Amino acid sequence: MESHIGAKGFIIGTFVQNELIAFRNVYFPDVKEREWNLGYDIGLEAPEDLEQIANLQMICVHPKFRGNSLGRQMNSHAIEIIRQLPRYTHLCATVSPYNYWNIRILLKSGFTIRTLKTKYDGKLRYVVYQNLTRAVEYLEKNERVSVRLTDVERQKELIHRGFIGVQLREIDGFRPQKPTDYANGFEVIFSASSPAEFSFGRPPDISPRQLPVFASQSVVRGQQSRPGRSLSDVETDVWIDN
Ligand SMILES: CC(C)(COP(=O)(O)OP(=O)(O)OC[C@H]1O[C@@H](n2cnc3c(N)ncnc32)[C@H](O)[C@@H]1OP(=O)(O)O)[C@@H](O)C(=O)NCCC(=O)NCCS
Repeated sequence: MESHIGAKGFIIGTFVQNELIAFRNVYFPDVKEREWNLGYDIGLEAPEDLEQIANLQMICVHPKFRGNSLGRQMNSHAIEIIRQLPRYTHLCATVSPYNYWNIRILLKSGFTIRTLKTKYDGKLRYVVYQNLTRAVEYLEKNERVSVRLTDVERQKELIHRGFIGVQLREIDGFRPQKPTDYANGFEVIFSASSPAEFSFGRPPDISPRQLPVFASQSVVRGQQSRPGRSLSDVETDVWIDN
């Protein structure tokens, strides 16, 4: 843990009147760390690529302040810092398929879902990726498929066929019966990808049509209420230790 926030990474803290209310940490894994170097999980093979991996690792926002875009702002800030470090091209993160708000902020922070697999002693995880030197490329008129967040097998099949997850959407009118039902109220939008997205490794099985490239995602707002305070109530400051 110490190395994840010390010499091999940095941490951003958000404070309200000197009280820490949120943090995001970034870790730079070594090539030989097979579990932590997420390049292995997304098909990167060359040591020179594996040396250029940075992980967005842990993030936490105090429950009272969630839903105020602090998570997204800390992600953008961390990505901007990493961009200024010449060494890193590949940015990765893992996220549980049941952690819908974290999936949403990662996809809105420029990542796409590349694989869904067990990691960390048997835990199911998406591995998400973005290339810091080019915008995500997927084709506007390529096939798009919506899959329930909880339909793991269908998602694995699409990923195997070369689809990438690009958006998390709340299903209109979904009413959870109990808190554990919440994940059923979301669907992931998968898009057939451009071969360029996989140019570092094994190409997908599909051959997408050559159509114009775009890099935007539409946002579908759901009915979920936000118990968090408005950001205008608080003062934030960013603290970085590296
Ligand atoms: C995941 C987490 C970091 C998100 O932080 P956050 O500051 O609340 O995230 P943001 O406000 O930037 O974005 C959350 C998204 O969820 C939506 N949302 C809706 N209701 C929400 C709620 N009650 N709480 C949080 N987010 C909510 C927001 O609308 C936003 O989507 P939008 O961009 O479409 O508006 C935070 O929920 C958290 O700390 N969770 C516990 C720790 C954790 O699971 N960390 C990840 C593993 S390391």
